[in-house]
Amino acid sequence: MASTYHPFFPAYLLLLLPLVVAQSGAVDIRVGSSIDATGDAKPWLSPSGDFAFGFHQLQNNNDLFLLAIWYNNIPSTTIVWYANGKNPAPGRSKVELTADRGLVLTDPNGQLLWRSDLVAGDVAFARMNDTGNFVVYGSGSERLWESFDNPTDTLLPTQVIGKNGLLSSRYKESNFSKGRFQFRLLEDGNAVLNTINLESNYAYVAYFISGTYDQANSSNSGFQVRLDRNGSFYVLRGNNQRFSLNSDDFVPSTDYYYRVTLNFDGVLTLSSYPMNSTTGARNWSVGGTIPDNICTTNFAELGSGTCGYNNICVLKGDKRPECECPPSYSLSDANDVYGNCQADFMQGCEADGQSSPEDLYDLVELQNTDWPTADYELISPCNVDDCKASCLQDCLCIVAAYNERGCWKKALPLPYGRRDSQVSSISFLKVRKPEFSQKNSPIYLTSYRKKYQSSLIILFSVLLGSSVLANFVFAGVLCMGSSFLYNKKVTSDHSNKNGIQSSIRYFKYSELEEATNGFREELGRGSFGIVYKGVIDTDSQGRIQVAVKKLDRVVQDMDKEFRTEVSVIAQTHHRNLVKLLGYCDEGEYRMLVYEYLSNGTLASFLFGEGKRSWRQRTQIAVGIARGLCYLHEECSPQIIHCDIKPQNILLDDYYEARISDFGLSKLLGTDQSFTNTAIRGTKGYVAPEWFRTVPVTVKVDVYSFGVLLLEIICCRRNVAMDVGEEDRSILTDWACDCFSEGTVDALVENDAEALSDETKLERFVMVALWCIQEDISLRPTMKKVLLMLEGIILVPAPPLP
Ligand SMILES: *[C@@H]1O[C@H](CO)[C@@H](O)[C@H](O)[C@H]1NC(C)=O
Ligand SMILES: *[C@@H]1O[C@H](CO)[C@@H](O)[C@H](O)[C@H]1NC(C)=O
Ligand SMILES: *[C@@H]1O[C@H](CO)[C@@H](O)[C@H](O)[C@H]1NC(C)=O
Ligand SMILES: *[C@@H]1O[C@H](CO)[C@@H](O)[C@H](O)[C@H]1NC(C)=O
Ligand SMILES: *[C@@H]1O[C@H](CO)[C@@H](O)[C@H](O)[C@H]1NC(C)=O
Ligand SMILES: *[C@@H]1O[C@H](CO)[C@@H](O)[C@H](O)[C@H]1NC(C)=O
Repeated sequence: MASTYHPFFPAYLLLLLPLVVAQSGAVDIRVGSSIDATGDAKPWLSPSGDFAFGFHQLQNNNDLFLLAIWYNNIPSTTIVWYANGKNPAPGRSKVELTADRGLVLTDPNGQLLWRSDLVAGDVAFARMNDTGNFVVYGSGSERLWESFDNPTDTLLPTQVIGKNGLLSSRYKESNFSKGRFQFRLLEDGNAVLNTINLESNYAYVAYFISGTYDQANSSNSGFQVRLDRNGSFYVLRGNNQRFSLNSDDFVPSTDYYYRVTLNFDGVLTLSSYPMNSTTGARNWSVGGTIPDNICTTNFAELGSGTCGYNNICVLKGDKRPECECPPSYSLSDANDVYGNCQADFMQGCEADGQSSPEDLYDLVELQNTDWPTADYELISPCNVDDCKASCLQDCLCIVAAYNERGCWKKALPLPYGRRDSQVSSISFLKVRKPEFSQKNSPIYLTSYRKKYQSSLIILFSVLLGSSVLANFVFAGVLCMGSSFLYNKKVTSDHSNKNGIQSSIRYFKYSELEEATNGFREELGRGSFGIVYKGVIDTDSQGRIQVAVKKLDRVVQDMDKEFRTEVSVIAQTHHRNLVKLLGYCDEGEYRMLVYEYLSNGTLASFLFGEGKRSWRQRTQIAVGIARGLCYLHEECSPQIIHCDIKPQNILLDDYYEARISDFGLSKLLGTDQSFTNTAIRGTKGYVAPEWFRTVPVTVKVDVYSFGVLLLEIICCRRNVAMDVGEEDRSILTDWACDCFSEGTVDALVENDAEALSDETKLERFVMVALWCIQEDISLRPTMKKVLLMLEGIILVPAPPLP
């Protein structure tokens, strides 16, 4: 009898096999398992059911399927990985786990559509992991392939991007072909966002650079980009330090699903979704974006930005862009609102013929609008009327942008259009009068610039042919090329006089005299000398504005010291520090050339006229803390600023704080571990120990920061005699009183925005009070200050003096 049962036994066992539960509790997917692409196919689930692997039906075409991984427990479909974006699978295609090739996706005729690129070895089983990672294992449980190593546009918690790894955007929200944007970790350790030319894969210059390449010690450069389960998103450096990519107000939490996605519009977003239905709305919310404003981000010279040529980018409330064609222009492809726009009329030197331009055209005024890279002529000085007339009379001119610096004439095609309150230009767009209008062929193709560009594209395409391997190799070369270009920009050659290593340029006195027009326009006077405005030519950015600081108190025989200090400053790279571009030490002259920052000092921002929102102020405070934290903790030798005050904080185009005047203390001939004979710093901001004979430490900066933070909170100076009530004349004292009496609100009495943000207000005041403790040892480090400001660690109640 036993022998008659025998033949059935193995078959019965086989049926059971796919259901065998492995030791970890995960359901193993056995070799030979498959899923068919149909509307109701069951996906392979992770043990918790959080993630699913299977076929996702395309929204715009129900006959096509994407082999994908998505969140299974979230109602709105959120795809985190996909295999065949450019090759959607027709109905009844099949994915199978095979022993020799891993996952294999074939169409109904058995044609291969996609397969996993296995590390050599025989497949034993696969698993959809609870982290969202689909893993194919060998017989020794070694991992042969995993979706985390082959990311598409999304990074999940615990997933790592190594050097040369990348995320690549989709083409459109619901088209999973490759898009134009990339987020990469370069070989040199910088994480960058860049666009590519889709035909050739040519990578254009980055529009975001993390700055995590460490020139002084490359083993401290970034080597991984990571997202932790609590939402911390950062570049990990060789020395294990983290460079945060989170936004300043981000608070980590383990109650959310997190993902970082490079969207089809080029914005990198960190999104969160509450795991528990009780905590908040059941929807993804965006917790931070890079860049902060993609519309005003300066992209490379080539390619178009988020919006196509002649299109205008406008940022929405969720920090994602929308595109709008200018008046009398329409989309080249009506289905592609992010694409190119073309004029609804003929224009150009041939089309205008002999008619007078006044008869043919109107000028449409577009406020706060510009296409900053489309210029071919600058008229300066110039008034508005001459600007308009000049464009009207010039058959090449499509639009003229007018601002305080002059009149910028622009030709087709117009890339990187933006309308934003930060744009100071008014654009005058030439539009054909209705009676002279006639439907036109797409003339944006006729411009010389477009011709040049398409020949470039053709050149690359020819070079590459259609070989996938060549594409791959060439893309690699181009990536290296572009990272090299980036480095070259930073380490601009010029004469590397006196062994000052790295990034900066040496200037002759005569060059700076010319650049500043004979030291004519004074920007300010600091503790070290006078700062003048100037303009210099650079290889990489053309003519740029600079601030030239002429040092007047440099001690004699400080030549070597000067160079040492300059090289220390030159090695600092941080988005909250003013960048040193060059120096001069000819004869008796000692000068430093810095980047020019358009929005002036924090002092004029805080104490001057005009709008200063609470949000902006808190961001500035956090920025300063970051900059100081970098000077104290990441620079070697450590840099103590010694003179933190609002006059030494500058604001860039985006009102991001930039610390200036750092690293100069030795130039004054004072020793940092000195006694009370030579107080550095500025009355009202200096720490009490300056008056005692104790060594000066980074804690003096912490004290000054505390005073500064109160000034930022209250928008007033620390010492103000004109505030009416006498007990309010010293801000630090008044703040202590308010805190002890529980009336912190009084500090910001007319500031509705601050009053409505009570927890942050209280937090910031408490941090400030910790910083201004008399007892040096009670003052926190800047790192701790930063964590407290960001709400990452709790702020205990400060002791009151
Ligand atoms: C699978 O998920 C668990 C936790 O959910 C994690 O600890 C483990 O590292 C993951 N394994 C892989 C290969 O991703
Ligand atoms: C996605 O866009 C590409 C490029 O325009 C196009 O070739 C492809 O057909 C589109 N795919 C789908 C599924 O619409
Ligand atoms: C987030 O989680 C990581 C790893 O689990 C941990 O190292 C880090 O300190 C956490 N970050 C915060 C701010 O709690
Ligand atoms: C670079 O930094 C590492 C630690 O972060 C240190 O061990 C090494 O000595 C440094 N190298 C140089 C050349 O300074
Ligand atoms: C959801 O919230 C409840 C009550 O607040 C808690 O007991 C449970 O552990 C939470 N579940 C998750 C997955 O966080
Ligand atoms: C979730 O957010 C999306 C986009 O912000 C919105 O279209 C959708 O209606 C929201 N869903 C829910 C359930 O709130």
